[in-house]
Amino acid sequence: MLEGYLFMSLSIKNLSITIGKKDIIIDQSVGIADGSKVGLIGRNGIGKTTLLKAILGKTDYSGEIKFNGKIAYFSQEIDMDLKKTGRETIEQRAEIHHQNEFEKELGEIEALLSRQDICESHEKLAELTDRYVVLQAELNKHQATHATGKIKSVLKTLEIKEDWLDKKIGELSTGQRAIISLAQILSSDADFLLLDEPTNHLDFKRLEILENYLKNFKGTVLMVTHNRYFLDRVCDAILKIENGKWIKYNGNYSAYVKTREAAFEAQKNAYEVEEKYLENERDKISRIGTSPSKVKQGNYRKKLLERREVIEKPDMDKSKFTTTFEASPIKSPTVLELHDLTVGYNKPLISNINLNICVGQRTILVGDNGIGKSTLFKTIEGRIPPLFGKVKLDHDGKLGYLDQELKDLCTHATLYEEIYAFFEDAGKTRQQLAMVGFITNEEVHKPISKLSTGEKSRLNLLKVLIKKPNFLLLDEPTNHLDIDACEIIENAFLNYEGAIFAVSHDLYFIEKIAHRVLKVVDGKIVEFKRK
Ligand SMILES: Nc1ncnc2c1ncn2[C@@H]1O[C@H](COP(=O)(O)OP(=O)(O)OP(=O)(O)O)[C@@H](O)[C@H]1O
Ligand SMILES: [Mg+2]
Repeated sequence: MLEGYLFMSLSIKNLSITIGKKDIIIDQSVGIADGSKVGLIGRNGIGKTTLLKAILGKTDYSGEIKFNGKIAYFSQEIDMDLKKTGRETIEQRAEIHHQNEFEKELGEIEALLSRQDICESHEKLAELTDRYVVLQAELNKHQATHATGKIKSVLKTLEIKEDWLDKKIGELSTGQRAIISLAQILSSDADFLLLDEPTNHLDFKRLEILENYLKNFKGTVLMVTHNRYFLDRVCDAILKIENGKWIKYNGNYSAYVKTREAAFEAQKNAYEVEEKYLENERDKISRIGTSPSKVKQGNYRKKLLERREVIEKPDMDKSKFTTTFEASPIKSPTVLELHDLTVGYNKPLISNINLNICVGQRTILVGDNGIGKSTLFKTIEGRIPPLFGKVKLDHDGKLGYLDQELKDLCTHATLYEEIYAFFEDAGKTRQQLAMVGFITNEEVHKPISKLSTGEKSRLNLLKVLIKKPNFLLLDEPTNHLDIDACEIIENAFLNYEGAIFAVSHDLYFIEKIAHRVLKVVDGKIVEFKRK
């Protein structure tokens, strides 16, 4: 059944996916070779997660998708049972997806076997049961075997600590949850990994571990990430989705950028030459004269022009929106003071913090997963009481808090309704939505529940900024944002007049905006010296 796909891990032919009225993918084909590491990129909301779901058979599509081997899937939403412990979660097998056809045919046979007429024919019954046994054996081959040895080695590789395993998932930090979810997948015997933004939330150490793991992985990887360093180091091909179509580029991310820029320049030149030629021709035709023979000649030349192949205006497919973040006035130079602050749940995570955050200053906090960064931010925001010490926000201080898990955004309203509630003014609502890239009617009237995670992340940011805070507390603000959106938002932060205190593992972001970098080490906050 799988011959012909021997050297292709994934073969997609004439794939089209439509969601509601929107064409996400239009008649696209691609093959991914065995062992290849492909980065899947494209703007927020373009359909990357939808494509992964189609491969898994979880979204309707037309066309043909065939894959060879056993797939494990890392979901961007890191959806896990919060009541189970880390250990129970890892020991529970990662779901393994195999070529859908086994299951499909098994289902068909089961349906046939329940029919009276078939059961009465011994010959038919024997034939179907034989086929059933063969298929079932094939299917079992594709189920995960979960060797304890492999789990142990993955736990060690990912530096998962014993105490994470004893805790309930609900009591783990976001990064720890991501690591547990990765451990489930890496310890399965899948030979094809579909990873949807696996790098979000990972600390520097784990990013490097995952990078090395994937580089040495013998199987195939199709991975969505906006992390440029990671794409560069791991991928040998890039699949870029744009306007319902995709192009596959061989090479890593830097090679893709070069090829794309060269193609853009070439097309820009061709377009300009063509435009000049057309302009010249039209000008000549308009001055050709009015005698019947000249009119005839003019019509002929017009026809020739119409028949020329159209050279499309090149488009770099950049997210195009401009954003400025306004800050409410504040007189004091210091917006936040932390005095001998100790934060944690049952026991201290970070102790004796004495820190001032000044207006106009951008401070970044880094540190390993699970060290207490989000706990500190939640304590400053007031969701968690301090274990000791004081949080003093200036009386003019207006705090805007961006939660790491987008939890503050759970509504069935549309984007328009959500933002209209603040202004009760249609024009202002549209203008604000446009500031984070929601421009068309179709975009603004989408229900929030239908947004991609990257789009949710942009809306979340807008909701925080609408109130004109003069102090932004941002917990990993660039996770989920596409590369262009990141840049636009980084530039807006650079021009922001309030104070920024942000957690981040995104090196591009840190390099670009940080005035000061702090690190949590051994339960203390220290200045982080950059090399
Ligand atoms: N609701 C909770 N109850 C008890 N312990 C918790 C709870 N939430 C988090 N913790 C624990 O507190 C520690 C710090 O978690 P926190 O979310 O602050 O880490 P973090 O530094 O933000 O990590 P990450 O980089 O993964 O986001 C972790 O060890 C976690 O297990
Ligand atoms: Mg955190």
